[in-house]
Amino acid sequence: MKTNLIFILLLLCAVQAYPSDTYLANIYGRETRSLNGKWDAIVDLYEQGATSKIFLNKKATGHSDFYEYSFENGLRLNVPGDWNSQKQELKYYEGTVWYARHFNSEKETGKRKFLYFCGVSYRCNIYLNGRKIGNHEGSFTPFQIEVTDDLLQGDNCLIVEVNNRRQKDAIPALAFDWWNYGGITRDVMLVTVPDLYISDYFVQLDKVSPDVIRARISLSGNQKGEVVQLKIPELGKTLRMTTDSVGVAQGVIHTKLTRWSPENPKLYDVEITTTSDRITERIGFRNIKAEGTKIYLNDKPLFLRSISFHEEIPQRMGRACTASDAGQLLSEAKALGVNMVRLAHYQQNEYIVRRAEEMGIMLWQEIPVWQSIDFTSPETLEKAKKMLRETILRDKNRCADCFWGIANETRPSEARNAFLNELLKTGKELDTTRLFVGAFDNVYFNSESKLFEMEDPFIDKLDMIGINKYMGWYAPWPLEPEKCNWKVALNKPLFISEFGCEALYGQSGDATVASSWSEEYQEKLFRDNLKMFRNIPNLCGISPWVLYDFRSPTRFHPTNQEGWNRKGLVSDQGQRKKAWYVIHEFYEQIRKKDIVNLK
Ligand code: GCU
Repeated sequence: MKTNLIFILLLLCAVQAYPSDTYLANIYGRETRSLNGKWDAIVDLYEQGATSKIFLNKKATGHSDFYEYSFENGLRLNVPGDWNSQKQELKYYEGTVWYARHFNSEKETGKRKFLYFCGVSYRCNIYLNGRKIGNHEGSFTPFQIEVTDDLLQGDNCLIVEVNNRRQKDAIPALAFDWWNYGGITRDVMLVTVPDLYISDYFVQLDKVSPDVIRARISLSGNQKGEVVQLKIPELGKTLRMTTDSVGVAQGVIHTKLTRWSPENPKLYDVEITTTSDRITERIGFRNIKAEGTKIYLNDKPLFLRSISFHEEIPQRMGRACTASDAGQLLSEAKALGVNMVRLAHYQQNEYIVRRAEEMGIMLWQEIPVWQSIDFTSPETLEKAKKMLRETILRDKNRCADCFWGIANETRPSEARNAFLNELLKTGKELDTTRLFVGAFDNVYFNSESKLFEMEDPFIDKLDMIGINKYMGWYAPWPLEPEKCNWKVALNKPLFISEFGCEALYGQSGDATVASSWSEEYQEKLFRDNLKMFRNIPNLCGISPWVLYDFRSPTRFHPTNQEGWNRKGLVSDQGQRKKAWYVIHEFYEQIRKKDIVNLK
């Protein structure tokens, strides 16, 4: 009886309940037409464009009419791309920019058409042929709008009103330590699907079993009784299912397989077909869990050798937005010797996620609940839940995504605890296969106990605790590093999600003087922190802050910073600093000796 009960509970815990009413799964595996390229643009500093209805894109025809705008022969901006890095006068711009482009379309019977935006920063209104057809808030998640009945035969005019103004009720809010890029910063495409199409699916390994693949496939229109086939040719497996009364087909494949890992990032070709639609993609299968104070990948404990990076190409001083940008960031991370990347501090683009899968890099993907969010606002909570949901919906089949981060450096309060509890509940309703985490900066040195400690009522609900701690930079050493002992969340895996300090590449100085901003100081600080980390009994991994120097308007020093946060192990020109070699050597030791615990 007991065994059956456990099996039923496991079955329930692994079955996913994905609402599939947001967007098409696996957009890059669909019939799409890119709308990337040069778009016409108008900078609307006083936000008068909506009042002037410039989305009608009128042209003067008679003797008396005139319009004080035109999208032709003016500013042109690359899409995808932020506007800040494209025009010197837009470097600091925060406000509205109108984008416009034309495209031809053909009416096709038996087909449906969607506009799909992979990311627009920060909020936008979408107009097609002079009519508002949709809007979205949040820079880092996709959205789609069905335009089957809105498209004209032949020429269509698409206009996007983009605004990146920081706001108290936004996520992130008024101040954050990265550049406030604005624009259509990710791909845009026109998608064509059959009338009856595969709208969403989840195909992943069961939470705990190494040889049970769970599939849940939703068809458009809640179509009942449709045959859906899932094939994994390399495994010689074909699963035939039939949709239920709400158009969902579910099934299980029992099979031996090679589980995805950093050492062997195995991906399988997967094909989903119905009578009218067919989708293919490559999916990896792995198990991830937290047990005791360890993280287990495929039932084996491992040490997380991580690094963080922003979605930014420093040499271009702009958003990373292409497959080659993803390659640059991840190749530099891989060279350091990582098996994981913490994608700070927001959901990063799908090129990065898919490339990480191919390269065998585990990901911590987070929503930008960063420090001073308005935790008292119910509207802000709804925005955060929507961002988390959109993140999980987009990436639920991505085996590289192992951790969902829901907050960074938020401090305990009744409002914040309630906000994060709600957010965590939303996440766990959507995905019970991955681990939920957060990064906290409230570890302090207790001068009585002589221990590093932390009180935070929320952390016990998380699977792994991330700690941001800048010993030797924002916090002076209270003791010799090797004498610093921690007593933090001892019953949980503890991950150092940020540590480090600033150094200007090429600047030499006294290794004991922080204000030298020298590579020698940074190098010594990293060595000292590694000494301290050996004393953390439940340490499961570390993630230095940060891979590359990155842009931030909060960094005022005229020679050491010049609007750059200089904590990179690599300079903004791609040069590796002395501290890079300290971490590289440390990660090589961990990897070669397969070390799980530093004690
Ligand atoms: C914080 C924060 C980062 C920031 C870093 C720093 O820990 O999470 O976003 O860039 O400190 O001060 O450099």
